[in-house]
Amino acid sequence: MMREVLDAIDRLVLEPSGRSPEAALELYGFLRDEYLAHHLDEDEALFPLLRKRAEPEDRIDEILDRLEADHETGNGLIDKILGILKAFIKNEASLRDEDFETLRFFAASERRHLIVENAIILPIARARLTKADLDGIYNRMLARRGLDRVTSGKAT
Ligand SMILES: [Fe+2]
Ligand SMILES: [Fe+2]
Repeated sequence: MMREVLDAIDRLVLEPSGRSPEAALELYGFLRDEYLAHHLDEDEALFPLLRKRAEPEDRIDEILDRLEADHETGNGLIDKILGILKAFIKNEASLRDEDFETLRFFAASERRHLIVENAIILPIARARLTKADLDGIYNRMLARRGLDRVTSGKAT
């Protein structure tokens, strides 16, 4: 999903023809609903388990420290990104040069982050986490989004 979002930001920045408020709306909705939640999934559930389960040769602490720092940077930037998209969607403002620059910076740093997670973190997670770990992470993801009651059949 995040890769699609980053591609959509690139299109918004690079292709004037794709620069419609409708194109920005989906992007806005995903980032608003998922960006911070995704960071919490990783910071509170996935990364602590990885630190616990990884072997010294995985050298994971240093990498996770860096990824957590990226999350903080992104958390500090996301309101600005949402503000740019929202103003554009509501037709209050066309995108200024500095907005393009902010969007481009965001997409580039998120893409670097994603590459490290996919290339380094996911293989270690596959090798080290247990089935119970994965179930626990999944359940916390559902609970964070208020979906746990739905799947356990307790929703009214
Ligand atoms: Fe991350
Ligand atoms: Fe991630």
